[in-house]
Amino acid sequence: MKKRNTLLALALTFGMTVGLAACGSGSEKKNDASKESSDAAVSKVANKDKPLVWFNRQPSNSSTGELDKTALSFNKDTYYVGFDAAQGAEVQGTMIKEYIEKNIDKIDRNGDGIIGYVLAIGDVGHNDSIARTIGVRKVLGTGVEKGKSINSEPIGTNIDGKSKIVKDGTIKVKGKSYKIRELASQEMKNNSGATWDAATAGNAIGTWASSFADQIDVIASNNDGMGMSIFNSWSKDNKVPTFGYDANNDAVAAIPEGYGGTVSQHADVQAYLTLRILRNALDGVDIDTGIGKKDDAGNVLSSDVYTYNKDQRSYYALNVAVTAQNYKDFSDSTKVYEPVSYQLDKTKSPEKKVWLNIYNSSDNFLGSTYQPLLQAYDDLLNLKVEYIAGDGQTESNITNRLGNPSEYDAFAINMVKTDNGASYTSILSQ
Ligand code: BGC
Ligand code: CA
Repeated sequence: MKKRNTLLALALTFGMTVGLAACGSGSEKKNDASKESSDAAVSKVANKDKPLVWFNRQPSNSSTGELDKTALSFNKDTYYVGFDAAQGAEVQGTMIKEYIEKNIDKIDRNGDGIIGYVLAIGDVGHNDSIARTIGVRKVLGTGVEKGKSINSEPIGTNIDGKSKIVKDGTIKVKGKSYKIRELASQEMKNNSGATWDAATAGNAIGTWASSFADQIDVIASNNDGMGMSIFNSWSKDNKVPTFGYDANNDAVAAIPEGYGGTVSQHADVQAYLTLRILRNALDGVDIDTGIGKKDDAGNVLSSDVYTYNKDQRSYYALNVAVTAQNYKDFSDSTKVYEPVSYQLDKTKSPEKKVWLNIYNSSDNFLGSTYQPLLQAYDDLLNLKVEYIAGDGQTESNITNRLGNPSEYDAFAINMVKTDNGASYTSILSQ
C-alpha cells in the first residue's frame, strides 16, 4: 500500500512537471503530446527493451538440456547468470573420491569390499542437477554412457549391482581394489511437485536405511538442503559422511560434526553479477563495468571466479570444494564478496526499480544464501528490488505477479521450470 502511494505520488509529480513545461509553450496540440509523454515518463523504455537477467535456472529444454537461445537473447540486454555446472560437478565428484581414498581403512562399513553410496537427485529436468549426478557417476566410475553423455536418470535401488543405468566402478587404493556401487538414487520431488525437496530426502534415507543400512558407506546429494536433511535424520548418528552442494551456512557448520563436505558455487559472485548486469545496462555503460573492468568505486572480479560465454550470453561463477581442510573460510555464505563490495555513486547510478522473483520461497539455497546476498548488493548498486516469492510448483503463481511490468526498469527471473522462458517474455512483449 505504502509503495503504491509513493508510486502514485511519483507519477503525479512527473505528470505535473511535464504538464507545466508544456503549458508554457501554448498550443493544444503540444498539450496532447505532453500527455503522452507524461504517461511514458513512468517508464520511457518499452518493457520488451528493458534489461533482463535469468538466474539460477538457465532457459533450456528440460529433457535435452539444449539452451533456449530465444529466451537468452530476448533483447540486447538479456543474459543468464549461474555457475559452471560441469566444473562444479567434477569438484563434487573428486571431493568424494578423495575422501574415500583417504579413509579407505574404515569406509567399507560392512567389509564386503564394496563402497556403497546413495544419491539424492534434485530435479531430473534441471541442468545443475543433471550435471551433479553425472559428475559423481563419472568420477566414481559408476556412469554408463547414454548418447554423448552419461546417463543421469535415477535408478531406484540397485543393491545387487544389476542396474542398466549405472555400473559398478572400481577404485584402487594402496594396491587393493574396491568396487564402488550406486545402491540407490531418487529424484526428491514431493507430492505437490516441488523439486530439490529436503523433507523427501529425509524420508528416502529412512526407507533405504531400513532395508540396507549396513551397505551405505557414503551419501552424495545434489544440494545441501537435501544433504542436511539426510545428515540430520540418519547420517550424523551413523557416522556416514554426506556430501552436498551450495555451502549453505548450516552445511558448512556441520562439517566438524561429520558432514563430509560441500561445494561453494560462489553465490556471492552470482548474486553480484545478477544485479550488476542490470545496473550496467540501465546506466548504458559497457556491460563489463565492475565485472572484468574495474569501475570508479573499485569493484572488479578476477578471472578465477567467473567466466563469460558469449554464444550462450551466460556468466558462470566457478566452484570450490569446501571440506574439513578449509571450511572455516566459508563460515558465512551471505557475506558480500570483498572485491565487489563498494557502494556506487548515486549521481552516476541513480536508483532504479527491479522486479525479481525466487522460484520457490522454501528453497534452502536461494532462501538462505542467494537472497540475503542480493539484498546486500541491491543497496550497494542503488537498486530498489521487489522480491517475489514463488511456490516452486507453478509458473503462473509467479507470472501473475508480473501484472504491471511498466512499473519496473529491469527484471531478474528465476523460473520454476527451465522450459518456461516464454511465459515471462510474452508478458514483457505485450
Ligand atoms: C542449487 C540448489 C537449488 C537450485 C534451485 C541449484 O543451483 O544448488 O540448491 O535448489 O539451484 O534452482
Ligand atoms: Ca560396503
